[in-house]
Amino acid sequence: MKENSLLGIAAACLLTTTVVYGAMPHVQAATAAQAGRYLVLAGGCNDCHTPGWAQAGGAIPSSRWLTGSRVGFRGPWGVTYPANLRLLVQHMHERQWVAMFKDKTPLPGYPMRPPMPWLDYHRLNVRDLQALYVFIQRLGPAGQPAPRYVPPGRTPKTSYIVFVPQRPGSRPHP
Ligand code: HEC
Repeated sequence: MKENSLLGIAAACLLTTTVVYGAMPHVQAATAAQAGRYLVLAGGCNDCHTPGWAQAGGAIPSSRWLTGSRVGFRGPWGVTYPANLRLLVQHMHERQWVAMFKDKTPLPGYPMRPPMPWLDYHRLNVRDLQALYVFIQRLGPAGQPAPRYVPPGRTPKTSYIVFVPQRPGSRPHP
């Protein structure tokens, strides 16, 4: 092989390889909205925030995605309902959205209760969080607000999933 063709290969390698040590990974897509769509799907947001998602095997049009759930999760924290994200992002700035996930302290009015996986999404790259916001914002407003949080000790008026370990044979609790 000629010396200059070896040089050519070396130059091509240098041009195509970008090594950014220490850079936090993030999703790459043609647009932020496409990255956001991917993150919603891979991040499992629909499993909790889209009614009937698992039952329909995910065959629900995006026009009905993330409209919140009337089935609560009941545990020691009370009863929480997956929020209607389509309505939420309409009155929330992108900066607030990112801060909600990134800041260890919750924003007033946005407490971090289970089973929303705050702990995990906290690790998302800011670019990914922005992409999520852009995609959900583009979907536009839809649906009704989810029922209000029910504090511990109060009886919820909706159906709920008991999210507490149960002993075999014991009566369901709470
Ligand atoms: C395991 C179920 C579950 C999954 C998965 C999940 N969420 Fe949630 N999410 C919830 C519940 C329940 C709440 C309500 C928590 C509360 O009332 O404190 C919530 C609340 C939120 C809130 C706060 C809304 C508010 O008004 O306080 C945002 C924003 C949110 N989820 C976004 C997402 C996104 C984006 C994803 C996917 C990347 C996701 N969630 C995945 C269950 C889930």
